[in-house]
Amino acid sequence: MTIANCHNIMDFRRIAKRKLPAPVFHYIDGGADDEWTLRRNTVAYDDYELLPSQLSDVSDISIETTLFGKPLATPLVIAPTGASKLFHPGGELAVSRAAEKFDMVYSLSTVATTTIEEIGASGGHPKMFQIYVFRDRGLTGEFVERCQASGYTALCLTVDTPVAGNRERDSHYGMMATAKPALRSVASMLRHPGWLYRAVVRKDMELVNITAGAEAEKFTDQSIKEFIDRQFDRSLTWKDVEWLAKKWDGPLVVKGVQTVDDCRKAADAGATAVMLSNHGGRQLESAPAPVDCIAEVADALRDRLEIICDGGIRRGTHIVKALALGANACSIGRAYLYPLAAGGQAGVERGLGLLHDELRRTLALLGCDAVHKLGPRHIRHRA
Ligand code: FNR
Repeated sequence: MTIANCHNIMDFRRIAKRKLPAPVFHYIDGGADDEWTLRRNTVAYDDYELLPSQLSDVSDISIETTLFGKPLATPLVIAPTGASKLFHPGGELAVSRAAEKFDMVYSLSTVATTTIEEIGASGGHPKMFQIYVFRDRGLTGEFVERCQASGYTALCLTVDTPVAGNRERDSHYGMMATAKPALRSVASMLRHPGWLYRAVVRKDMELVNITAGAEAEKFTDQSIKEFIDRQFDRSLTWKDVEWLAKKWDGPLVVKGVQTVDDCRKAADAGATAVMLSNHGGRQLESAPAPVDCIAEVADALRDRLEIICDGGIRRGTHIVKALALGANACSIGRAYLYPLAAGGQAGVERGLGLLHDELRRTLALLGCDAVHKLGPRHIRHRA
């Protein structure tokens, strides 16, 4: 099977599984504990039906939406995911360049294998940097300044990782919580010598934003994981979000909230948007599916916050459902990581193309010619 034979996102998953060493594939694919939340993120979309209005003149379809207070070419956003060079040598740049073709927002993770500056220079599309408030506020401040200097549009603060989730597939397959896999999985790695060469000889998979910072320079290669672990601050509160909002002074997205109460606190602290997210089912097991959180948050806070639905999206119908329920945009993780692993930039372009085709086709079949016209009349929860 080649990427040309991929006709939906899950087709890319099959190629990714074949191409990647098992620990790396399962690192992308897996979730926390029994993976109930991971599964629920996608199947929850099946609880909603789309209600067509026929004969509605759909000769022109607009997918433009509003995000960060500005018009945006597409409601589909690239969510931040760490260490993309684990999955393909093209890494984050391959994804960012593919996103540019669709004028999509590209989000770079703090734990990326490409620098803030390289991504900043990778095209004219909007960029968002996913940040953590580290114990050492100087390190977080350094990231903010680098993003300002590199022309990023927005910051996205991830708040659902006070500790790492229990990803048992990583233990079963010998994937450690850093960019380097354990040698326990040597047999699988040896079947992928190109990957092994990049990891071991070229050291292609370094978390360069952390290691490039002035603070991290004090640490050796061996202690960098310890450094990152030590920087995660379990004592964070909404006061720290206020601190960041003042420091950044631009669109600020809080990622990893799911309740109206938390979204209100995010708005009070100075956030302009929330990403309704459970980290793709990788953190709190039994957290609700993001799609099920949209309507309540939109009803309570649509005047104060923009809403991004993040998690489980594999189809254009999923995007349409999230927007009809009140989201401004949707973000995807695995839906671009499988294509990245399957075929680098070309794979991501094909994957994003398929999702956009599905989005436009669904809108036409629904009898709605613009995503900003989507609303409650287009969707119903199954009894
Ligand atoms: C993630 N995610 C994530 N989130 C974040 O804020 N910082 C990060 O570094 C990462 N890294 C990461 C790696 C991998 C392999 C995955 C699959 C996910 C979570 C990501 O931003 C997003 O919330 C989920 O991927 C959304 O769920 P779907 O689209 O993958 O179902």
